[in-house]
Amino acid sequence: MELHEIFAINLTPEHLDRIVVLTGAGMSAESGVPTFRGEGGLWKQHRPEELATPQAFAADPQLVWDWYKYRRNLIAATEPNPGHTALVELESILGDAYTLITQNVDGLHTRAGSNRPIELHGNIFINKCNNCSNTFPDDALNFDEMPPLCPKCQGPVRPGVVWFGEGLNPVDIEDAFMKSHQATLFLSVGTSAVVHPAASLPEMAKQNGAFLIEVNPDRTPLTSLADTAIHETSAKALPALVDKIRQVRSKSI
Ligand code: OAD
Repeated sequence: MELHEIFAINLTPEHLDRIVVLTGAGMSAESGVPTFRGEGGLWKQHRPEELATPQAFAADPQLVWDWYKYRRNLIAATEPNPGHTALVELESILGDAYTLITQNVDGLHTRAGSNRPIELHGNIFINKCNNCSNTFPDDALNFDEMPPLCPKCQGPVRPGVVWFGEGLNPVDIEDAFMKSHQATLFLSVGTSAVVHPAASLPEMAKQNGAFLIEVNPDRTPLTSLADTAIHETSAKALPALVDKIRQVRSKSI
């Protein structure tokens, strides 16, 4: 489906009862944050599969922190794009009927104005103690020592993201599964839909009767399952999709 066809999507007011949006790295691509698996993806340039592990941090905390600082600087220099803004608008239209789940650690949804998205893979700007899990702002830590030490328990402080081989925050993943299970409309945006458990959320929503829309210029394992696949970028498709949802909503009031 192309952009001008979005207005023809067969959405009903009932679809708007409970909307869940799941976003991935493609959501931030038009802000200038490289995706993981695309051309110029961070993984290709920096071999993150070797750096984003507890073992790498234990072996060489300086190297791991240098890499995260590089990514923090790159992300800090970007701005939310019209796709992020459209989702803020969608939240203001739907209120409690709206849930945003993201795999992105860049914090761009929050910077755009989204209200507490579920950040399944953490947030790159959080500093977290590996021992006691307390979090600290940058200025509470001494980055001259490596790793920086926790002011509370002297444990090693690390970026607050999920690494390979680690579990997700149980509260977040439970919430994400519950909301997806109950969804009447599920939007999967800018994700390759190959990393679980996040990739299970749209599948589960669809199995439970949700209308499933995918926004991605390319095909993914989810495409054949989707009721509608919009082969466009998120910065272009989401504003049009939100206009469509606003139109359906206004008919139901
Ligand atoms: P990927 O890099 O795997 O996939 C990005 C997807 O975005 C691809 O399917 C692209 O086709 C699509 N895409 C590219 N540009 C786009 C645009 N402008 N608009 C919409 N879509 C676009 O990223 P994720 O699916 O987010 O986890 O990867 C999932 C997880 O894998 C990441 O969170 C990361 C990694 O392991 C952790 O670090 C724990």
